[in-house]
Amino acid sequence: MTTYTCAMPKIRISDGVVKDEVLVVGLAQKPGKNALVIETSATALNIKALLEMLDDLGATGKVDEVIKAPGTSTRLIVFTGLGLAQDSYGHEVLRRAAGAASRALAGNTGATFALPTRSKEEVAAVAEGAGLGAYAFDEFRGSSAKERKAPLRNINVHVKKMDKAIATSISERTSIICEYTYLVRDLINTPPSHLTPDSFCKKITEAAKKSAASGLKISVLNETQLKSKGFGGITAVGQGSINPPRLLQISYTPTKNLSKKRYAYVGKGITFDTGGLALKPALGMEAMKSDMSGAAAVCAAVIAIASMKLPIAIDGYAPLAENMVSDKATRPSDIITIYGGKTVEVLNPDAEGRLVLADALVKAQEVKELDAIVDVATLTGAQVVALGTRTSAVMTNNQVASETFLKVADIAGEAFWPMPLPVELRASLDSPVADLANIGERMGGMLVAGIFLKEFVKEDLPWLHLDIAGPSYNEGKAHGYTPVGGTGIALRSLVALAESAAL
Ligand code: BES
Ligand code: MN
Ligand code: ZN
Repeated sequence: MTTYTCAMPKIRISDGVVKDEVLVVGLAQKPGKNALVIETSATALNIKALLEMLDDLGATGKVDEVIKAPGTSTRLIVFTGLGLAQDSYGHEVLRRAAGAASRALAGNTGATFALPTRSKEEVAAVAEGAGLGAYAFDEFRGSSAKERKAPLRNINVHVKKMDKAIATSISERTSIICEYTYLVRDLINTPPSHLTPDSFCKKITEAAKKSAASGLKISVLNETQLKSKGFGGITAVGQGSINPPRLLQISYTPTKNLSKKRYAYVGKGITFDTGGLALKPALGMEAMKSDMSGAAAVCAAVIAIASMKLPIAIDGYAPLAENMVSDKATRPSDIITIYGGKTVEVLNPDAEGRLVLADALVKAQEVKELDAIVDVATLTGAQVVALGTRTSAVMTNNQVASETFLKVADIAGEAFWPMPLPVELRASLDSPVADLANIGERMGGMLVAGIFLKEFVKEDLPWLHLDIAGPSYNEGKAHGYTPVGGTGIALRSLVALAESAAL
């Protein structure tokens, strides 16, 4: 069983002369007559001639515009849109521009990205964007495989001047981020015919073994063990499927825990969500192979964090189940007992994510010295309605933790927006027969789901709930460094949070 369908590109950063066949530069729009500006770290370009050519080609410099032309010193010169001209472009504009060019360059072996960078963060963003854009998922192609162009294999980032040690550390970190984003995307893109709770565990175990990381420990509870230990949420959701549920734990203990911190990361791992007996219509079901995006991000983040040898302990949990329809499936009105003893009346088997997460959240908090707990989930359609497909939501019991997270996520280039957990919505989750019902007020469904989870988190433990329902899976066109299908969202923020060790 191979997990990687797409070879990792080699990422190098250098301030030497450009020797590649392909050179990527930035193109920005300036208000006024000579409206285009070429923005690059490369020297010795005939800017005047190039601008005349770009004018003839009708170039605009808009974001996501990529223009390829024959070069003079290189075989190809590629212009990638930066949008409006700025003194400094900022990391995310550069990340996306590099990514768009990288995607457009599939079929080429290598390219040098000479974009206008002013700091090592911007250099890292260019490298990251180019790396994240060089992804393909062709594992399941048969006869159409040969028509596909392979993504870039060699990514060279050109900078005016750079210290060797810094260049090495940037390329190492970027390679890890890209490798584990690819893993998240691969897992999401793998259909439920080939990804079950059990095979998810095997793929993560294999990826951990393959990594250069040390200090990782993986344990898996099977269905029998889950039942006997009282994980009523995971088993209730999984019982309708021939592919039994699992609880995967992947923990990283650093050699030296300099930060003295310990976080728990918990990710929703529904390998397919039919809605159970509250069956989804086919149109709403086809994207539900992505309902394990949170679990994939959490597990890959733990391996990435271990590979970076970060001085912080992380316990990752992936409650895994397939939400199916059968004579064994949980019925609306069934009452289940979550790990730890709270009972839940399952009024809607399609609100399954919160049930598996509740079990895992309670389990995660058995670790006494926890500093923070973060859950990541494709939890509600309401998230997509509220924030669209490119912005994820953060809910919390701790404003400071949320603000810190938002800063860290922004620098990582992932869009999150804070959402409230209004106390008045809590009453809608009251059940006449159990401690809680699994659905409540329909309006503000994303917040109701957050309030449900809050019931399973200790009040004084900083907790973040990330609803990534929209951004985890791109059903539209590719853009920037984001491909169609699994995006890998949350991986970079989870890694960045561990790097900051700020909670
Ligand atoms: N996995 C879905 C949420 C989802 C919807 C993710 C769209 C990605 C895109 C979740 O399990 C679900 O079905 N939620 C229900 C909850 C409702 C029954 C309270 C929903 O949002 O409709
Ligand atoms: Mn569901
Ligand atoms: Zn779901």
